[in-house]
Amino acid sequence: MMIMESPDNLVIVIFGASGDLASRKLIPAIFSLKSQKIMPEKYAIVGVGRTKISDEAFRTKMKEAIVTFSEEKASDQILISDFTKDLYYHSIEDYSGRGYSELKEALLDLDERYGIGGNYIFYLATPPSMYEIIAVNLSKEGLTVTENGFRRIIIEKPFGYDLESGRNLNKTLHELISEDQIFRIDHYLGKETVQNLLVTRFANGIFEPLWNRNYIDRIEITSSESIGVEERGGYYDSAGALRDMVQNHLLQMVGLTAMEPPSSLDANAIRNEVLKVFQSLQPIKEEDVSKYVIRGQYTGSLVRGECITGYRYEKGVAVDSRTETYVAIKFFINNWRWGGVPFYMRTGKRLPTRVTEIVIHFKQTPHHLFQRTMVKLSGNQLIIRIQPDEGILLKFDMKEPGAGFNVKNVDMDFHYKDLADIWVPSAYERLLHDVMLGDSTLFSRDDEVETAWKFLEPIQKAWAKNPSIKVFGYPAGTWGPEHANDLIEGDGITWRYPCKNLADEELYCEL
Ligand code: BG6
Repeated sequence: MMIMESPDNLVIVIFGASGDLASRKLIPAIFSLKSQKIMPEKYAIVGVGRTKISDEAFRTKMKEAIVTFSEEKASDQILISDFTKDLYYHSIEDYSGRGYSELKEALLDLDERYGIGGNYIFYLATPPSMYEIIAVNLSKEGLTVTENGFRRIIIEKPFGYDLESGRNLNKTLHELISEDQIFRIDHYLGKETVQNLLVTRFANGIFEPLWNRNYIDRIEITSSESIGVEERGGYYDSAGALRDMVQNHLLQMVGLTAMEPPSSLDANAIRNEVLKVFQSLQPIKEEDVSKYVIRGQYTGSLVRGECITGYRYEKGVAVDSRTETYVAIKFFINNWRWGGVPFYMRTGKRLPTRVTEIVIHFKQTPHHLFQRTMVKLSGNQLIIRIQPDEGILLKFDMKEPGAGFNVKNVDMDFHYKDLADIWVPSAYERLLHDVMLGDSTLFSRDDEVETAWKFLEPIQKAWAKNPSIKVFGYPAGTWGPEHANDLIEGDGITWRYPCKNLADEELYCEL
């Protein structure tokens, strides 16, 4: 097993500590890092929130969170108590002003008691509308000054809601702190399988020579979810699939799939290449939006015997909402490697199954020797499965045993689960540990975020200006609006309909 580096001593301050993110993801992730013995020798965690609770009550709440949400199903009470003894809670009257000097005093006191040496990470697990005001107040108290140790701020997407607000957020943050103090979390980049895209492409000699317009016919990226908006209707109705998934997770996957080999594994070397991909995205003109972008919204239906509520009847959603819960986009990347290769990407809620995958469709052979068999050859596909049943599948044609030359499409598959004894950290573990080490490779940089918004801007504008661009309904549990097929269909091609299991595929399959 690889020896992981231990970070320097530090205090982690979680704003919004009584919220869902802290209990479901952050505290269980830090607990897991502690169990793996890769937390710093000395550290303290301070939850900050408006609810008034004691340190003890916070510890009890976080113990429950660890038992409920920890991926390893933590059951060792001694280990959990040993972890929670370093948790503290500080209630703040109001994020926008009062209470920051008391917070500073509390932090300095802890810093001294633990012998930390001035390193702080501030995780803003609050609604995004609070990011700027919290950063301003931390800065006013001198808590973002790096003289006596590092000071880092972590924020979660959405980073603005369009190009202008995305730029403004960056601008405000840059007036207070430098870019290398900002860690913008895109939890997809914390997924092992997303990072493995780099290894698959750049550690193997066999793929890279084929990874271009000469051999690749098209690329399909799917991130489907079977769940709906759950308790997040209020947030989601003002976001929609384009902001919630495409601006960040899907475009980051496009970046890693399409980028040039970086000169090194340095954070900026990798992010520079991803940025170049974003800069090469062929802008979709406002007047072409309905041709290249299909949006949809789920309607109520019966899925596997269960009555599923339509999006407009979800809690927090307007009854006449036109927010998209599904989006499919056809686009091109204008550079030498990808010129003319269509990319198809789609994401949606309440689709048949939860799958994220990238499908590389290779071109057909130039001469169809075996056409007489009347079998339509499907061409080679490399399927990189991000989740679930993480792995890689190569589809290729083989001779069916027996007389003649009957051709059959077969699978060669590798599943991560076959690698025994491998510790697969959760996305948040990996990312939090990276922030502690100051490694920003897997975090979105300011210019990447802005360029991604720039690509989406004409789509957002066209939708906002032009109500005649349809929002197609699709019954919950189906693969989205039928119109999304028009984007890809032609010459006999269709979307791939993946299943939970990597090697299976069928129209509507959940095994
Ligand atoms: C989040 C989105 O960023 O990603 C959610 O806000 C979505 O709407 C989630 O459900 C999907 O993440 P994962 O890891 O389950 O694919």
